[in-house]
Amino acid sequence: MVAAWRPASLKFTPMGESFVAQVEGLDFSQPIPAAVRDELLAGLHKYGVLVARGTNITDDTMIALGQQWGQLDNITAHKKAGRTMRLPQDEIFDVSNIDPDDNIITVADALRTSSARGNAMWHADGAYNPRRSGISILRAVELPPKGMGGETEFLDTRTAYEDLPAETKQAIDGLVGLNTLMWNRKQANPEMQTFKDIDCTKVPLSKHKIAQVHEPSGRGNLYIGSYNHHIDGMPVEEGRKLIDDLMAHVMQDKYKFAVHYENSGDVTFWDNTAVLHRATLGQYHGKYRRDMRRISTFDNSSWAYGENDPLNSQQVGLT
Ligand code: OGA
Ligand code: MN
Repeated sequence: MVAAWRPASLKFTPMGESFVAQVEGLDFSQPIPAAVRDELLAGLHKYGVLVARGTNITDDTMIALGQQWGQLDNITAHKKAGRTMRLPQDEIFDVSNIDPDDNIITVADALRTSSARGNAMWHADGAYNPRRSGISILRAVELPPKGMGGETEFLDTRTAYEDLPAETKQAIDGLVGLNTLMWNRKQANPEMQTFKDIDCTKVPLSKHKIAQVHEPSGRGNLYIGSYNHHIDGMPVEEGRKLIDDLMAHVMQDKYKFAVHYENSGDVTFWDNTAVLHRATLGQYHGKYRRDMRRISTFDNSSWAYGENDPLNSQQVGLT
């Protein structure tokens, strides 16, 4: 199927020898035709990450496209936990460094700083939820000056899985990773009292297998990252060692790619079931505005809920 794939409306150009491709031909100032939407999704499933520039995208047209791919994840659990939002739409995850009063977040805002640090650790969006995220769309609204950082980095976890020795693939087959947002925040903020005393074996944990099949491409995938605290049914230390070893494998430079943003209107799309990503803090942090906004679909593959109970799938929220 992939070999015969010939996009008619969009042009995909791999960036280097990587799993990231630049896509040309997307214009959000008009409704996106169904054929273009389908081609974009097929490209995303093939590559893992797509970058489009000068797209005329807005919050509403970003949401409209995402909704055509499936039900969107939302921030209502975070609102319920008491977080005040800068933007009105519940579908938008505000990953800017700007507070609701339009000021740049500094270290004085300990909680938002802790989230920014957490976001700079490798992750798949929504892995800590019972129903994980599928596709994420991240748009640049306002960027820090060039050279000040703020790239988004990606790891090709499908190729990394495929490169594993056969005995490792066998050893991890069927293992269930236990995930919590708290583990990410705790690792990123080791000094912070809010997270310091949390025992990550005693909080609600979402269960997703660590060796998976990416259904749209039929390729294997390693579904790990900074939310994955330990492995179900394995002593915690043993599970940690396994996850750390697998992370060291996928973090190799050969699986890594950094997307640089050039102008507002740049958009990155990624498939959370095929790649890991992280924000980079850089020198801009605390000094220059970086306004980035994301939406995510819920995964609609048969792996979406992992080993979690679909009937008891409360989303996790944090102030
Ligand atoms: C996100 C995210 C990375 C970035 O929005 O989920 O991880 O570079 N963003 O802001
Ligand atoms: Mn993310």
